Amino acid sequence: MRAIGLLGSPRKKGNTDQLLSLFMDRLAGLGMETQTIDVCRRHIEPCKELTVCETKGTCPIDDDMHKEIYGLLRDADLVILASPVFFYGVSAQLKALIDRCQTLWARKHLLKLNDSRHNLRRGFLLSVGATGGKQLFDGIHLTAKYFFDAVAARYAGSLTYRHIEKRGQIMELPSLAEDVAAAADQLADGLAGRPKVIFACRENAGRSRMAAAFARIHAGDRLDVISAGSAPAAAVNPVMVAAMAEKGIDMGFSTPRLLDGALDGSPPAALVTMGCGEACPHLPGTLRLDWDLPDPAGKEIDFVRQVRDTIEEKVIDFLNQHPDLPPKQTGEL
Ligand SMILES: Cc1cc2nc3c(=O)[nH]c(=O)nc-3n(C[C@H](O)[C@H](O)[C@H](O)COP(=O)(O)O)c2cc1C
Repeated sequence: MRAIGLLGSPRKKGNTDQLLSLFMDRLAGLGMETQTIDVCRRHIEPCKELTVCETKGTCPIDDDMHKEIYGLLRDADLVILASPVFFYGVSAQLKALIDRCQTLWARKHLLKLNDSRHNLRRGFLLSVGATGGKQLFDGIHLTAKYFFDAVAARYAGSLTYRHIEKRGQIMELPSLAEDVAAAADQLADGLAGRPKVIFACRENAGRSRMAAAFARIHAGDRLDVISAGSAPAAAVNPVMVAAMAEKGIDMGFSTPRLLDGALDGSPPAALVTMGCGEACPHLPGTLRLDWDLPDPAGKEIDFVRQVRDTIEEKVIDFLNQHPDLPPKQTGEL
């Protein structure tokens, strides 16, 4: 499980920074893989309304959104949006990131593509402001809810603090640690501790990505599904992305990841390989399967469609045959 924090304050060690750090630390303590993006120190151009995203589902602006952030949002189970109140809204830097998520909004609402976590992902808002008015967080709440819809996350709540102004003042709140713990635990409820299933192939650019997407769609939130590769490619196979789009599944912006990292933390209940078996470690107690599937790399779309459909059937069989993962400790398989 991955949680991404979007830090929208430019002030280092400021209130938002400290609040988000506490929140992400709590999620890490619950077994989440966490990453915080310091939005104000990244290269993120504002939306130029080129409207390319409306027809092509991509943005031609070449910056950190493309290089990294769209991919991180796609791979996240939890998205934590954190901002100080600046004129009743989020900071300008964070607003630029939010506006650039119009690309994800267009993929979802205009191109009718859903990424495989769309029913699972949760979004949470953290915010602080200096004044005490009743409507202080109204604007930010509206922006956050619309942002979470664009990134296919269900709005799951917020923690907001009034009368917080000088740097680090938030740490003086006696209830802070308790508030953060309760909110983070509730946000992760039902996600932390699920059996982990890893689908792996060599490059994590085609087969294992499709398998993981189908597993998320067919298993819902009962499993923590990850895909990875023993030698990840630089990017996913575009023909695979096109073949999955025919089924309404959005694989755009997903990024191949290394198997070693996916094996960190609690051992998986199951590891399903498809072409990288020899490079995978032996994991006692892990259900180990190897699917003999042809490699779709470099192949025409007809071929990839067949591999896609075979993978979906195999995933459904796998889920039906193993309704009670994790298996009992059986040693060698
Ligand atoms: C440009 C700017 C605009 C602000 N606008 C508001 C505002 O509209 N309402 C408010 O209550 N506080 C406003 N503040 C105060 C900050 O929200 C407050 O100091 C907050 O604690 C800063 O959080 P940080 O330390 O994470 O940056 C503003 C501060 C700045 C610098």
